Amino acid sequence: MYRSHTCGELRISHIGNTVTLAGWVQTVRKFGSITFVDLRDRYGITQLLFGEELNKQLDENPLGREFVVQATGKVNERSSKNANIPTGDIELLVESFSILNKSAVPPFTIQDDTDGGDDLRMKYRFLDLRRNAVKKNLELRYAVNRSARNYLHENNFMDIETPFLIKSTPEGARDFVVPSRMNPGQFYALPQSPQTFKQLLMVSGYDRYYQIVKCFRDEDLRADRQPEFTQIDCEMCFVEQEDILNMFEGLIKRIFKDVKGIDYTEAVERMTWEEAMWQYGNDKPDIRFGMKLCNLKFPAHTFPAKESLSSLIAGDFAVFNDAETVIAIAVPGCAEYTRKQTDELTEWVKRPQIGMKGLVFIKCNADGTYKSSVDKFYSEEKLKAIADAAGAKAGDLVLILAGTEERTRKATSELRLEMGKRLGLRKADEFKLLWVLDFPLFEFALEDQDGGGAGRWVARHHPFTSPKPAHIETMINNSPKVADLDKYLEHPYAGIKANAYDMVLNGNEIGGGSIRIFQRELQEKMFAALGMDAEEQQHKFGFLLGAFEYGAPPHGGIAFGFDRLCSILGGSESIRDFIAFPKNNSGRDVMLDAPSEIAEKQFDELSIKLNLK
Ligand code: AMO
Repeated sequence: MYRSHTCGELRISHIGNTVTLAGWVQTVRKFGSITFVDLRDRYGITQLLFGEELNKQLDENPLGREFVVQATGKVNERSSKNANIPTGDIELLVESFSILNKSAVPPFTIQDDTDGGDDLRMKYRFLDLRRNAVKKNLELRYAVNRSARNYLHENNFMDIETPFLIKSTPEGARDFVVPSRMNPGQFYALPQSPQTFKQLLMVSGYDRYYQIVKCFRDEDLRADRQPEFTQIDCEMCFVEQEDILNMFEGLIKRIFKDVKGIDYTEAVERMTWEEAMWQYGNDKPDIRFGMKLCNLKFPAHTFPAKESLSSLIAGDFAVFNDAETVIAIAVPGCAEYTRKQTDELTEWVKRPQIGMKGLVFIKCNADGTYKSSVDKFYSEEKLKAIADAAGAKAGDLVLILAGTEERTRKATSELRLEMGKRLGLRKADEFKLLWVLDFPLFEFALEDQDGGGAGRWVARHHPFTSPKPAHIETMINNSPKVADLDKYLEHPYAGIKANAYDMVLNGNEIGGGSIRIFQRELQEKMFAALGMDAEEQQHKFGFLLGAFEYGAPPHGGIAFGFDRLCSILGGSESIRDFIAFPKNNSGRDVMLDAPSEIAEKQFDELSIKLNLK
């Protein structure tokens, strides 16, 4: 028996018991003829006391950090207690011990505030995982996993595994490919998601499917993106959008309750994609705070039915007159910003990541006067009218950006989030869910997205998403051809909406899904709209089109980004903190040193020749 108890287990009630512990040496403190050792395992830390007798043995066999030690002795009440740890009332009076294994000096301290940098910790991830802070994240991840499985099981969902060596499933990224030795010159793709399999399972009659599953996408990495990540992937048949929204807000609320103890009883807010873009400039708005966008000027085709406020900014100010779009936000309580502070904000919007040429402000002073960087062009009355339209009150600061539509909307959205952060309105312990509905069915790829070329319509979600019934005719009756690339937004496809929905948590897209196409004919029309001729359709998706001929039921589903959900619940920006063995930002596993070269012989077996450029 290596141990009778764990290092987190012993309390006052164990005093006098003889126990055996096993764990890793956290610290060694020698005081004259006695030595204290903190012994650590997954469950906690217990203080060991080596008396005079054993101290001699320690002198001969000194303990170092991270040595693996087994110790037997009596549980003793401590003379000076440590209220910071659950085992702080007791210590183990060691009677015998053995060193089970030695350790080299670890390259960084195994503590919450470690001295190890990111790269070093990733190289020695097995040591990093010993740290409490990382362990807590993995515990949270496991709690979310358990909670999701329980909820889905209780609701009749069945976990069914799907293969990893498959043919491409388009989710908007490049595929990772695997050469087949037995089929020279041919390749499997790793799934970007199990999308087509879960749809086939619906055709097979497994009406509620789920899987907590790895997905693989070769795309540019960010803090919330990994090349391999995990989804809670779900599909249901005989459902409408409403059924899916209810079932899966239930899932997230259950996770909140089980993992965070939060009773999220209110209904999850809903917003159309258009409202999100209009009010927040973003399809995943953080609705923990207001500061909504005031659209002073915008091109007619972006929001055809919306009223323009452009008369408010009419005048001689060339920047506004020449801009395609002018958007304002009212920042609460910031009218007293100094020149230095407004200059700093101007520099902030000019950074390449934001890309604006400048920033206009109106200070709504507490005494009812208005002061602006464009005083020269607008009377105080006009400034007041603009500030009023932006919803500003006395004491607020109105910030205005002007430029091309897409960039200005995105920049205003970023500025809103930045001001929200600076004003402490984005609290880590406040959770606000949102459904964003009615996404566009198509997106125009001005640049290549997934290796398929530029200047074409791509599916905004994926090609299996159904159009709104009222928009099917528009899709069928119009050619996808775009004559003038600058005017793609005026093409009828730009206005087609999908039965697609995203779940947003605190400004992060944590899940997305759709009601699917389930008739062969409509699916063929959709593929055609995406520029696929009959031959390509058959080659890429013949299996799915074929399956739709054998009694495919109406169905729909959703997938949640499991790593992302965990990181938000854990209050971290980076999903890497919640993955046991993550990749770095260049997609490398620095511990394994992967990817790496392979042997010449392997190339021969695979009939592959390298052509490095
Ligand atoms: P989608 O592509 O929207 O949908 O993915 C679902 C969710 O997965 C998360 N996610 C990621 N997380 C980490 N790293 C990545 N590289 C990454 N990419 C996506 C996001 C996202 O909301 N098959 C469809 C789902 C469906 O239609 O049912 C799909 O995969 O949180």
